[in-house]
Amino acid sequence: METKRRIVDKNVHNDLLYSQAVDMLRAGEVVAFPTETVYGLGAIATNENAVAKVFQAKGRPSDNPLIVHVGDPHDIEKYVQSIPEKAKRCIDAFWPGPLTIILNAKPSLFASNVTAGLSTVGLRMPNHPVALELLKRLKEPLAAPSANRSGKPSPTTGKHVEHDLQGRIPLILDGGATGIGLESTVADFTVDPPVILRPGGVTAPMLREVIGEVIEPKSEHEQDSSVPKAPGMKYAHYAPDAPVYLIKPETSVITAAINEIHKNGQTVALLAPVTCKVDAADWFFSLGDGLNLDEYAQSLYAHLRACDETTADIVLVTVPQTDGVGTAILNRLEKAANGNWWIS
Ligand code: TXA
Ligand code: MG
Repeated sequence: METKRRIVDKNVHNDLLYSQAVDMLRAGEVVAFPTETVYGLGAIATNENAVAKVFQAKGRPSDNPLIVHVGDPHDIEKYVQSIPEKAKRCIDAFWPGPLTIILNAKPSLFASNVTAGLSTVGLRMPNHPVALELLKRLKEPLAAPSANRSGKPSPTTGKHVEHDLQGRIPLILDGGATGIGLESTVADFTVDPPVILRPGGVTAPMLREVIGEVIEPKSEHEQDSSVPKAPGMKYAHYAPDAPVYLIKPETSVITAAINEIHKNGQTVALLAPVTCKVDAADWFFSLGDGLNLDEYAQSLYAHLRACDETTADIVLVTVPQTDGVGTAILNRLEKAANGNWWIS
């Protein structure tokens, strides 16, 4: 299959391109599109065969459910059994935006592979002009996971999607780099208080301001097995080919680590704020000034992918502060590193 990557330019009429995308989706094909978080790979959520193509193109395990994207908050009344008051308030406050809300789905409405057999469904209205235009014209719910090969960092550009899914999907709507760079917050509203299953751009303090108590996930090593989880969080994720180690953002600690790695005859790529740049690193990727966490989030996946273009044996990544979107960044880093910290 030939994969076409088509630029969706804000200043040009893209009528034909959107019609092609809608026709393909209605014909049971998959199409990649940008959202404000990361690129998604969409299929109509009621079409089992189309959704199966998403799993196949990504190489995704079938027990990991997909998020259903909607173009209008009112649409979800058709899809779920009821909308609790707290979910309503969060929809008012954060949609369109990076918050996926888990609710009890109406039975037999979505294709069973969308929800991986669960009785719940994750819903989100993305805040991106291309995604919203596509949804408006499609008038159907669009199931879409991140448009990467399973296990790789989520794509934040159309070229990342092309790199991963070339020859596996027919069309990529390329709307340039995504704004946030990390996947949405996933929160379970079938329980009260709601539970955050995956941290993201809508943080726990932001949710608390709107609905009061919210349960937050603990970091990897202190997880409580009784708390529900997003099935996807159990898989190795977001990882380049070389092993990743987390490290404190301190120049002396990083220098010692690099010396040790070099002594073992290995090379190292360092992802860190410019304030932690160590010249001895064989490759350096800047995560910004260390204070701007938005910049850190936005550039992280592109840099993790760029490590695969180097011959680095080891990737060192400095951890961010954990306020704001820092919690979500650390969550993804712990997965990329499989929980490993560099200890000299
Ligand atoms: O920002 C995002 O959320 C992007 C864009 C494309 O919208 N999508 C995304 O999808 O990251 P994906 O499939 O890569 O991650 C979806 C996560 C997985 O961890 C999955 O297990 C969880 O959401 N999830 C989906 N439906 C669920 C459900 N009914 N119950 C619990 N977890 C669910
Ligand atoms: Mg994903």
